[in-house]
Amino acid sequence: MSNSPASQPHTPTPAAATARRSFFRRLLALAVGGLITLVPGAAGLLAFLDPLFRRGGRARQVPVAPLAAIPDDGVPRQFPVVADRQDAWNSFPAQPIGAVFLRRTPGSEEVLALNATCPHAGCMVAYQPAAESFRCPCHTSRFKADGTRILPCVSPRDLDRLECEVRDGVVWVSYQDFYTGKAQKIARQ
Ligand code: FES
Repeated sequence: MSNSPASQPHTPTPAAATARRSFFRRLLALAVGGLITLVPGAAGLLAFLDPLFRRGGRARQVPVAPLAAIPDDGVPRQFPVVADRQDAWNSFPAQPIGAVFLRRTPGSEEVLALNATCPHAGCMVAYQPAAESFRCPCHTSRFKADGTRILPCVSPRDLDRLECEVRDGVVWVSYQDFYTGKAQKIARQ
């Protein structure tokens, strides 16, 4: 019967066993240290990216204009959005918080509401009746009367539509601002 070293069960020397234990201790310390570093880092990253995952936002119901002020001729009309503002110490009644375009098409009671802020970088667009389109003065983005982009266009998305409804002859808009420069419509908080 062979008694060669290959056929002997491997018994580590005490020095090798100590070295292995030390190696595993260091590995465990590295893993724990990595977790301690990564978890707050990941939490910080999520907090930073958080707006990218928000879709709700805080919309404000604001009465904007009488329905009679929006003829059903397909031409968007601009109106200021005025609402009370409040910070930690003061409240400011009836402050302008933005602007919208309201539009009705012939024979329709339905109102289209568009945020007047350009989704590219936040300039205010203007409607040009002769061209039947919106134009942004900053980087020349253009949009059709229904707010869809006219390509090529540097704006990454169409004008932002806002929910609205008519109550007792007054158009109420659910006013909201959105992050600019993004292809998706993400509500600002
Ligand atoms: S801000 Fe409107 S095109 Fe740049």
